[in-house]
Amino acid sequence: MKTILIIGACGQIGSELVPALQSLDFDAVYASDKKKPPRELLEKFHSFHYLDVLDYDLLDNLVKDNNIDTIFHLASLLSAKSEKYPQMAWNLNMNGLLNVLEVGRKYNLKRIIWPSSIAVFGPTTPKRNTPNETILQPTSIYGITKVAGELLCKYYFNRYGLDVRSVRLPGIISSETLPGGGTTDYAVEIFYEAIQNNQYTCFLEKDTILPMLYMKDCIKALIHLMEADSVKLKHRIFNLTGVSFSCEQLADEIKKHIPNFSIKYQPDERQLIADSWPQSIDDSLARIEWGWEHAYNLEELTIDMLQCLRKRLL
Ligand code: SER
Repeated sequence: MKTILIIGACGQIGSELVPALQSLDFDAVYASDKKKPPRELLEKFHSFHYLDVLDYDLLDNLVKDNNIDTIFHLASLLSAKSEKYPQMAWNLNMNGLLNVLEVGRKYNLKRIIWPSSIAVFGPTTPKRNTPNETILQPTSIYGITKVAGELLCKYYFNRYGLDVRSVRLPGIISSETLPGGGTTDYAVEIFYEAIQNNQYTCFLEKDTILPMLYMKDCIKALIHLMEADSVKLKHRIFNLTGVSFSCEQLADEIKKHIPNFSIKYQPDERQLIADSWPQSIDDSLARIEWGWEHAYNLEELTIDMLQCLRKRLL
């Protein structure tokens, strides 16, 4: 049994992770964010607390008062937004994580789960089937904070025995909450625009291939990682992926369901970030050490996304 705190609960992942955790047999699930949840999200949360993760005292009190033993720390500035505000990205992504690790150390928490990203890789990393252990020389500030974050997590594990676990998430495709400020966001926006306007202007080139994961698989991965037997974990940080495709392949898949959908390509500064990332990821370590398996391929996630979004938007 666990008492779980989710930090960044109103974001793309948090807004779906909280209800998923609430439906399982845990003692309590506390949602927190510095943003006020929109009404429909607030109605889904069993409890909600205001928390700016940069405010250490507030975090400390929340953990102490509610006997939290597990934290999902999801609050972070994504890649494209981080490039606009590099100093803010460093502050939130690094000091937020440091606060969470510190509170974890102080109260001897059972688990901390923190997502890293494919952004840890850079132009010198092998681009295809990128291994877990490889060159980490990112060129984006977001990637730099994720590499430093990974090292910090490993440090807290080695130095203090804090059970921190992480997956390097690829682009996450989901229908409930829009991502904010990422480079892989096109793969979500395209569905909204296809359904509402039959057309989309993509901010990446049509042949840009990136690794992606459907939200239902992402939630499954985060919960499995939390529950994985620590004896079996030889690593702390795991590559994770579902499927890789180009912008054009995704558009073609959508056209199978919306034949009059059309797409234009107007690459902007996010192209540079995308070009520095791998096209496909080797996540065999996660499969071996904690039984990770994805379920959704491109065809299946397209059908599910269109169904979920039609229900929500039309
Ligand atoms: N989806 C993220 C981004 O594009 C990658 O971690 O920033």
